[in-house]
Amino acid sequence: MKIHHIGYLVKKLEKAAAEFEKLGYVRQGEVTNDTYRKVDILFLEKDGYVVELVSPNAPDSVVSGLIKTYKNAPYHLCYICENLDEEITKLTGEGYVQIDLPTPAPAIGGKRVSFLMNRFIGMIELLEQ
Ligand code: NI
Repeated sequence: MKIHHIGYLVKKLEKAAAEFEKLGYVRQGEVTNDTYRKVDILFLEKDGYVVELVSPNAPDSVVSGLIKTYKNAPYHLCYICENLDEEITKLTGEGYVQIDLPTPAPAIGGKRVSFLMNRFIGMIELLEQ
């Protein structure tokens, strides 16, 4: 599976984006309000690396708990897969725990994504091609 992006948790999305821009990252599109997960999302790219800034926009956001633990930090790698359901079945068979049902990602053209947890490497995201 190819890597699509690095998910980066940030408390202040615009301030974080400005800092990434100073490092040479370029914005890809506009900030998207992901109403499924109650987060604001912005993609930036540098040298072929894509960083996804994720910031909670409601107290009950899916990342409200994570941000208390991680502060501002990378927290998942997202992998592109051909068949999301097959890949989830394969990985859960290998010890990953699925932590949400496949849901459209408004910031990625509505393609389906799902998150899984691995006890040794933390969280990964799968993105259906
Ligand atoms: Ni992501």
